[in-house]
Amino acid sequence: MPHPYVLLSAAVSLDGYLDDTGPDRLLLSGPADFDRVDEVRASVDAILIGAGTIRADNPRLLVNSEQRRSARTGAGKPEYPLKVTVSGSGDLDPDARFWHTGGDKVLYTTDQGAARARALDLATDVVPLGADLDWRRLLTHLHDVRGVRRLMVEGGGLIHTQLLTQGLADELQLVLAPLFVGDPRAPRLFGPGGYQGGRLRLLESRRIEDVVLMRYEPTAPGTGALPTAADHHWLARACELAERCPPSDTAFSVGAVVVGADGTELARGHSREGGDPVVHAEEAALAKLDPADPRLPGATVYSSLEPCARRASRPAPCARLILDAGVRRVVTAWREPDTFVTDADGSGLLAAQGVEVLVLPEHGGQAKAPNRHLLS
Ligand SMILES: NC(=O)c1ccc[n+]([C@@H]2O[C@H](COP(=O)([O-])OP(=O)(O)OC[C@H]3O[C@@H](n4cnc5c(N)ncnc54)[C@H](OP(=O)(O)O)[C@@H]3O)[C@@H](O)[C@H]2O)c1
Repeated sequence: MPHPYVLLSAAVSLDGYLDDTGPDRLLLSGPADFDRVDEVRASVDAILIGAGTIRADNPRLLVNSEQRRSARTGAGKPEYPLKVTVSGSGDLDPDARFWHTGGDKVLYTTDQGAARARALDLATDVVPLGADLDWRRLLTHLHDVRGVRRLMVEGGGLIHTQLLTQGLADELQLVLAPLFVGDPRAPRLFGPGGYQGGRLRLLESRRIEDVVLMRYEPTAPGTGALPTAADHHWLARACELAERCPPSDTAFSVGAVVVGADGTELARGHSREGGDPVVHAEEAALAKLDPADPRLPGATVYSSLEPCARRASRPAPCARLILDAGVRRVVTAWREPDTFVTDADGSGLLAAQGVEVLVLPEHGGQAKAPNRHLLS
């Protein structure tokens, strides 16, 4: 199910803390960075914080700039982004500023927490998500029911840790502040958990007064049938590659990327690349790798169109090449239509051999774009 784009935002001390243990909120950034945060808030549909942050900081979570608020209303958006919080217990202070400032609010909680929240008469919509809080259900609800396309998450650490370890964060915006906390009782930005192996991708670094903003993107593919944010990023990249194919009236334009389990790009390819008039994207990508590469069995192949099951131009279809390479996971945007081959079922062929195949139709439009002339 589609989710909003999830952007984790936090300021952190040099020793990795979000706050100290004193009664007042520790100010990690300066005015210029607070203004940047205000700008990001103004750009999103919703802002989420955990119940722990409401208890510790009693924040308002507003867009402070009047100019930015009127730009939002001018663009037909609500003056303030939706404010979202998460609590298992439902035990929240009804007088907290969060409920009484800004625009609409929603509390996601458990069935038990919802009973408590309703008894407290909190000034918010209350959405119970079952016995436990499921982040995918929460994000789907925000997307489908509340129309949220961009979600900014402003902590605290428990929230950031869960979204990152569950592969649900699209981007991290971290501000590193030049000070130390040095108190192990203080809340950390990220707690223990099953994080991706390998390195995240640096999207940007920016000096803002004496702090540094770093924007990172998670890179590691998911491991099963549920797509992660990184799966979406890689598939979007494969679809971009499809745009580079020399045009053809007799074959599809397809892009493919092979990505190792740790998020390292191993190879990429696109249809008809390098002057070969019949080469397919997955074939071109896999040909750049040593068949004995030990990273292949743990890799994911992203292909804008499902790998072919039959072809006349070469002896082996791409589904067979993927199986021979030992790859166990394929993510694609689009099932092959009957344009050139009737009932092609590369996904079925792969799945029958135990390969996990994910089709993410939300990328279908991007995958089809360079093939429009072939689709009547
Ligand atoms: N520097 C920064 O940028 C920044 C930003 C934000 C916060 N902070 C700091 O971070 C600290 C708070 O962080 P925190 O980690 O203690 O709290 P938090 O992440 O804000 O909130 C944790 C609470 O959220 C609820 N929750 C989270 N995941 C849940 C799940 N899967 N199921 C059910 N409920 C769930 C629980 O509420 P219940 O207890 O009600 O069940 C949990 O106690 C504060 O000191 C604050 O100042 C700093």
